[in-house]
Amino acid sequence: MTQDEMKKAAGWAALNYVKPDTIVGVGTGSTVNHFIDALATMKGQIQGAVSSSVASTEKLKQLGIEVFDSNEVDGLDVYVDGADEINAQRDMIKGGGAALTREKIVAAMSKTFVCIVDGTKAVDVLGKFPLPVEVIPMARSYVARELVKLGGTPEYRQGVVTDNGNIILDVHNLSIINPKELEDKINALAGVVTVGLFAHRGADVVITGTPEGAKIEE
Ligand code: 5RP
Repeated sequence: MTQDEMKKAAGWAALNYVKPDTIVGVGTGSTVNHFIDALATMKGQIQGAVSSSVASTEKLKQLGIEVFDSNEVDGLDVYVDGADEINAQRDMIKGGGAALTREKIVAAMSKTFVCIVDGTKAVDVLGKFPLPVEVIPMARSYVARELVKLGGTPEYRQGVVTDNGNIILDVHNLSIINPKELEDKINALAGVVTVGLFAHRGADVVITGTPEGAKIEE
């Protein structure tokens, strides 16, 4: 089974968490793209979606799923999204696709976060995948210096502007022993919009695509 086939298995299994007549929170990335394909098979049974990126919005609309403005809805029953790394406590690194800020907002609005990954994303300690940080452009150098003080090696993601008009610093060489503490410290830096550590709001359900099919942990 290829990595993409494992992503597909996880994405389609997440359909079991979508309740009829609800608005569904939809994340971003190649695993979520499989989920969106699956969601399209029940588009007549759901009200629509709130999306975490321009890319997902376009795909949802192409498949005939209505996309709501997040300000128009009171809350969401379920949010389905991928991750770049996830640990046993269900803390995650996200933002490989630069959509971390909107992902954090939609996750915060949702009762249940269903994380869909292939088996390569599971780690003991977060940090091998460079930690994305969305930063206001004028704060780029200041935030980079502060991230060095926190023990990381930030790298400017060249040529990338987020859906919110900001830049991304990818922080290498971190071994994240206390994800909640690091999430707080980085979020407190002036000019940081969002850090891609999802520890305060981690996943509630993890669906892992494996060669044997989707493994569900609730
Ligand atoms: C985008 C994300 C994605 O969820 C993460 O990068 C995983 O992507 P993929 O499903 O393509 O492996 O956080 O900002």
